[in-house]
Amino acid sequence: EDTERDKLIEAHELTAKLYHYLLMNTTHGQQALSYLRGRGVTDKQIEQFNIGYAPPEWDTLTRFLEKREFDLSKMEKGGLLTARNEGNGYYDKFRDRIMFPIWNRDGKVIAFAGRLLGEGVPKYLNTPETKLFTKGRVLYNFHGARVAMRKSRNVVLFEGYMDVIKSWSAGVHNGIASMGTALTDEQIALLQRNADDAIICYDGDNAGMAAAMKTIPLLEKAGMRVQVAMLPQGMDPDEYIEKFGAQSFMREIIEHPASATKFRLIYAKKNHILLEEEGRKNYLLEAAGIIAALDSPIEREIYLKDLSREFDISLDVLKQDVFAHREKSY
Ligand code: CTP
Ligand code: MN
Ligand code: MN
Ligand code: MN
Ligand code: MN
Repeated sequence: EDTERDKLIEAHELTAKLYHYLLMNTTHGQQALSYLRGRGVTDKQIEQFNIGYAPPEWDTLTRFLEKREFDLSKMEKGGLLTARNEGNGYYDKFRDRIMFPIWNRDGKVIAFAGRLLGEGVPKYLNTPETKLFTKGRVLYNFHGARVAMRKSRNVVLFEGYMDVIKSWSAGVHNGIASMGTALTDEQIALLQRNADDAIICYDGDNAGMAAAMKTIPLLEKAGMRVQVAMLPQGMDPDEYIEKFGAQSFMREIIEHPASATKFRLIYAKKNHILLEEEGRKNYLLEAAGIIAALDSPIEREIYLKDLSREFDISLDVLKQDVFAHREKSY
């Protein structure tokens, strides 16, 4: 049983080496390499994240594994190969894709994400759930981020692979990615053991903001302090770094996160038309509810003062509303 796991890990490690070699040393790989460089991924990061390329042929990996006497049916169950529909035999699961190895906590390759070189679906093809890989138990780059995370007791949460990789070269060495899905209890627990503070830096679109709204309370419940580093509308960290550079990303985005409360207020505001009286009123009511949930009177006062200034409503009236909210919840 254990040797079967080891065998599958060995196959993944070798496959990662093969894909990396093919990226760096073949004609087909050239295209993938230019694609990566065109997106601003440096050679240093290609090495560090052991990025690779799965060629377009159907049997490159299949023959490679066969030659090394791996049991191909186990390689199929392990997510590296696909079984042929007719007859028997196998072919490569990943073809003509940029390959990102995914590591477990010990730094062993246990899965892959394969990205198309251009547009198309699916943009990313991921290893399915296998003996080695359960998406909800793994965080991309946890192994790589661990040292910086434990030292600073701070973790930066991204959505995607490219965000982690590009922000690493910008200076964020405690960045991990949830790989596009909501964080599970197990992932939260893992973060909570290694850090006290979290900065959520998800994509600057509706999906990213909604995901941040879901993630905040999960981290808070685990006792972590949460902040949100927001990006301009429609941009993700990788695009921001490409457009504005590493220094701007660090100074303007990562080093200036909004508090979780501030983010909740911004998120609520998006749903109201503030030019209309009704919209303003509804936003204020919602905002009062958000602020009422804060336990510290000082914090409540700070946010209420902002609101009072912004909407020209007396602090007293706002306080009355917040008081009513708090009464209700007891
Ligand atoms: N994702 C996935 N499968 C998809 C689309 C997304 O697994 N078909 C996951 C990936 O982990 C991806 C993350 O969700 O990195 C965020 O998705 P998205 O923002 O669409 O991709 P990017 O990370 O921005 O990828 P890229 O910059 O290469 O376009
Ligand atoms: Mn190399
Ligand atoms: Mn997205
Ligand atoms: Mn993105
Ligand atoms: Mn992106």
